[in-house]
Amino acid sequence: MSSYDPIARLYDAWSTAVVEDIGFYVDEALASGGPVVELGVGTGRIAIPTAGAGVHVIGVDSSAGMLAVCAEEARRAGVAERLDLRQGDLRRPPVEERVPLVTCPFRAYLHLSSDAERLEALRAARDLLLPDGRLVFDVFAPSNEDIEETHGLWLEREPGIFERADWDRRQQTLTLSVRGERGESSMTLWWLEPQRWQALLAEAGFAVEACYGWFDRRPYDGGEDTVWIGRRT
Ligand SMILES: C[S@@+](CC[C@H](N)C(=O)[O-])C[C@H]1O[C@@H](n2cnc3c(N)ncnc32)[C@H](O)[C@@H]1O
Repeated sequence: MSSYDPIARLYDAWSTAVVEDIGFYVDEALASGGPVVELGVGTGRIAIPTAGAGVHVIGVDSSAGMLAVCAEEARRAGVAERLDLRQGDLRRPPVEERVPLVTCPFRAYLHLSSDAERLEALRAARDLLLPDGRLVFDVFAPSNEDIEETHGLWLEREPGIFERADWDRRQQTLTLSVRGERGESSMTLWWLEPQRWQALLAEAGFAVEACYGWFDRRPYDGGEDTVWIGRRT
């Protein structure tokens, strides 16, 4: 069972405030012409607006619960025919098609716990791409202030939804717990410095076309977030 299954009905309310990345990923999908493979598609927070913009999306996720919510939301939004949902692991995506764009939004790669797993996932994404196709994803590495301000505290992220971050600087892990009326769960994320993502991308067969510091495409200058565009070499 995925750690997202128990919070599939809480996820959209939990991530209500996360909107800054949607326009960015929709623009990337439109520019690619589609179809797009989204790895870790979740409840379709990004895939549904992408399909709404007219781009066909193949969405892969390991959580049956998240996919069930995504399918319901896609029907409600009238885009179900442009959204092809498949349960599977992003390291071995059940996708035979070859596409111009693969995305992995909202830090889903941080669920990978070792360089071996990250390389497996990046190589699998590369294999899905047409020649010259692009992989776009975002990750983060926390600042000391973020760690000090939030460590071990239950904070009300949205009304009635509480989140707790337990950071381990040595292991570079974040144990993220969330609870609300509609579910609760705890999951581990492993973060890396941007230089290590850059090296892994090169090793997996990507040229780094851009590393942004935010979804408005400002260049990365040392903040917590990085948004990567890798082109298949
Ligand atoms: C933070 S959510 C992002 C969901 C969606 N992309 C969004 O932007 O809201 C991460 C998603 O990745 C999925 N996930 C985590 N590890 C995975 C894996 N190894 N294979 C496939 N999906 C995975 C989770 O089930 C979850 O739906």
